Amino acid sequence: DQLPDLLVVGSGFFGLTIAERCAADLGLKVRILERRSHLGGNAYSEREEQTGIEVHRYGAHLFHTSNATVWEYVNRFTAFTGYQHRVYSTHRGQVYPLPINLGTINQFFDAAYSPAEARALIAEQAAELGGKEPENFVEKGVSLIGRPLYEAFIAHYTAKQWQTDPEKLSADIISRLPVRYTYDNRYFNDTYEGLPVDGYTAWLERMADHPNIEVVLDTDFFTVAEQYKGRVPIVYTGPVDEYFGYAEGRLAWRTLDFEEEVVDVEDFQGCPVMNYPDPEVPYTRIHEFKHFHPERDHARAGEKTVIMREYSRFAEEGDEPYYPVNTPEDRATLLKYRDLAKAEPMVLFGGRLGTYQYLDMHMAIASALSMFENRLRPHFRDGAALT
Ligand code: FDA
Repeated sequence: DQLPDLLVVGSGFFGLTIAERCAADLGLKVRILERRSHLGGNAYSEREEQTGIEVHRYGAHLFHTSNATVWEYVNRFTAFTGYQHRVYSTHRGQVYPLPINLGTINQFFDAAYSPAEARALIAEQAAELGGKEPENFVEKGVSLIGRPLYEAFIAHYTAKQWQTDPEKLSADIISRLPVRYTYDNRYFNDTYEGLPVDGYTAWLERMADHPNIEVVLDTDFFTVAEQYKGRVPIVYTGPVDEYFGYAEGRLAWRTLDFEEEVVDVEDFQGCPVMNYPDPEVPYTRIHEFKHFHPERDHARAGEKTVIMREYSRFAEEGDEPYYPVNTPEDRATLLKYRDLAKAEPMVLFGGRLGTYQYLDMHMAIASALSMFENRLRPHFRDGAALT
């Protein structure tokens, strides 16, 4: 078995960007190992069999960025639709627009406040703590948006996300809660936004479609590591604690359970994402995938639609790691793994699992482009050390 010039572990956006740049720009032979039976990492999507509707298997993925370099790069592989994300929330039998905006406030308080009046009301409610430094998540939330809105839209939603009483959650989980004093309910503020016209998987496959790139599926790096370690440069995008055999302990993650259902109605909820912030409802939100692509002909789906209920909990061994829990203990553990990672010869750690960080897709791609320019290109072009 001939060794490649570079081994990439993981075929998510981070690994694919590294592989594509090294193959196309430096002419390197790149092998990607992926332990799942498909490429693409968590952005992977597939057509639901009965309806042909594109379903994001690991949770809804909305592309947005203000980084012009990333936007130019991703447009080499896919065109984007004009999709703009908007989210609604069902609270006590009424549907409100999110993020909290003037429409939400006026509906909630049954009023017709002007922007200045709404601002004054929220400031007055948020002053409840009288200038005291917030000591937990609840106090922080109240200090940002006042108690009524906090309790309706944030308290129980957060408790469901964390399976923890918000009184016991740290204040620094939230630094800001956006409240808009206009009727604008566009979810993201970024310059560029859209969904890949032919779907995520087509985009991800095009990134890997290069004669110098070989993708090996169903292969866990740890079963073949000895063939590569110390012999070829490796970019590793799996969990950093797993790489080191959990020598410093496990980093904590939250995971999600998805309950997918084909429902016999043409339109289930009239929007792509509906949040459920009330405590009686066990799930946090429902996605309806048809609405991500209003431009598509969904005739094949007929009187059917695909919905996915999302439940959140702490990850246990064997669960998919989705969001870093990031307690002070986790941060201390991470520092130890960072030292180990720095000292590991010929291996670079990247991506959301390799760095224990929540990364949006555009951030994972930007971070991979930067690793390519600042570390891989100098190594392969000028013989610089790979650390
Ligand atoms: P990613 O996890 O995608 O890929 C890592 C790959 O490595 C996986 O395929 C894994 O199987 C493989 N691997 C791990 N260990 C291995 C081993 N030992 N051997 C072989 N292979 C191994 N972003 C955004 O911009 N908009 C959005 O709306 C969302 N939505 C969203 C929802 C949810 C629920 C999550 C968890 C995340 C998002 N994201 C997102 C973030 C997005 O998923 C993220 O940016 C990318 O997945 C990051 O790509 P990576 O390549 O870093 O990891």
